[in-house]
Amino acid sequence: MSSVVLDKVTKVYPGGHLAVDRMSLRAEDGEFLVLLGPSGCGKSTLLRMIAGLEEITEGDLWLDGQISNHLAPRDRDVAMVFQNGALYPHRTVRGNMAFPLEIAKADPAMVRERVTELSKALHIDETLDRRPGTLSGGQRQRVAMGRAIVRQPKIFLMDEPLSNLDAGMRTELRMEISSLVRSLGVTTIYVTHDQVEALTLADRIAIMNRGVLQDVGTPGQIYNDPATAFVAAFLSSQQLNLLSATVRTPQNQHVLLDFGPHQLVIPWSDPRAYAVSQHTGRQIIIGIRPDGLAPVQESYDGPSFFGRVRTLEYHGHEWLAYVECGAPAVAVPEPPDPRLAASGRTESGGLRAMVRRMFAPAEQQHEDQEQVGQNPGSGHHRRADLIVRLGGRPAWRPAMPVKVGVDVARLMLFTTDGARIDPPRR
Ligand SMILES: Nc1ncnc2c1ncn2[C@@H]1O[C@H](COP(=O)(O)OP(=O)(O)OP(=O)(O)O)[C@@H](O)[C@H]1O
Ligand SMILES: [Mg+2]
Repeated sequence: MSSVVLDKVTKVYPGGHLAVDRMSLRAEDGEFLVLLGPSGCGKSTLLRMIAGLEEITEGDLWLDGQISNHLAPRDRDVAMVFQNGALYPHRTVRGNMAFPLEIAKADPAMVRERVTELSKALHIDETLDRRPGTLSGGQRQRVAMGRAIVRQPKIFLMDEPLSNLDAGMRTELRMEISSLVRSLGVTTIYVTHDQVEALTLADRIAIMNRGVLQDVGTPGQIYNDPATAFVAAFLSSQQLNLLSATVRTPQNQHVLLDFGPHQLVIPWSDPRAYAVSQHTGRQIIIGIRPDGLAPVQESYDGPSFFGRVRTLEYHGHEWLAYVECGAPAVAVPEPPDPRLAASGRTESGGLRAMVRRMFAPAEQQHEDQEQVGQNPGSGHHRRADLIVRLGGRPAWRPAMPVKVGVDVARLMLFTTDGARIDPPRR
């Protein structure tokens, strides 16, 4: 067992691509840490640096209290499982699993016993005498996992080990990995871009985007109290409602979020009110998960939006409604592109804005143009569809005028850069 500490670890690939930007992170002894983020954000690069398969450009890696930047991979006592766990095709399952122990010249009787025991835990004991070519994808991944675990490494690194499997197999193997790794107590760093995998497996989740650490915490902390709009959006199983509002404090009575056609009040008794009031007169971003909204009667006089049902969507266990409400929508704010830093250019506002436009989706481009001094309620903003959960029996029909109750306590408040206005509790 071992702890893993990254101290401002940076990776610049030959050619100048900045793949990981000053990542500082700690996996405690025996912890199951999940590294989550979209494709290309630098997850594999980070894992490969920990394994010693990729050089660290800057910063320090500590394994078990020892600085380990220059340790050879074989001296790190780290085992890694890849997305396509490559097996030796001419060896049997038993031969594949035994291989790391044979190389270490372990006692053959012990090897046999260990492989048999582990194959039972992984439910592949019936396949021990078969070759990899005769196995299913799920079975092959189990063998790859067994081969990595068999010599009981100090640190276990897994790079999307389940992503090539079908949904049923993923769920099954996910539970098995969780119980197996926990029973061994090996420090594990597990890479995925699947938020369900992250939430279900992790002791803690570290979430990154474009090579930059966005947030780290227990699944509950980062789901309920995300540090950035990116984290909130990435962890939402249904699309996060992201709206633009102007902060007002009329006669200092309360804080008002002005969405143009709608207003929501944040009373001074709300612990977030003071922090939001510091943005009076400016635009902020409001994130609302569909479960913070609910259909209400016309007579309801609590916090609410009104609108018209554009469409209903059937999801098997529930219906979702898309409600046109006329509030301005915003795209998820992205952190500045680190490629600029790698090329040695400083980020002036103009350059940064230009790059954001180059990489942003169409509606974000709109935003950028409109942010320049225009009234958010009046321009050509994309209008938000509120996504509302209706349960198993929708009381609404398309085109119906409706009222949507808002759980103000569950609003997430971000600056236009996507940072939290009220600091997350960690
Ligand atoms: N050997 C390399 N040389 C140059 N650039 C690289 C190299 N390997 C990766 N990159 C770039 O670094 C960035 C991060 O890549 P990485 O493979 O770490 O992403 P990832 O988060 O694992 O993505 P995925 O979820 O798709 O596996 C990408 O933009 C990728 O193109
Ligand atoms: Mg990868």
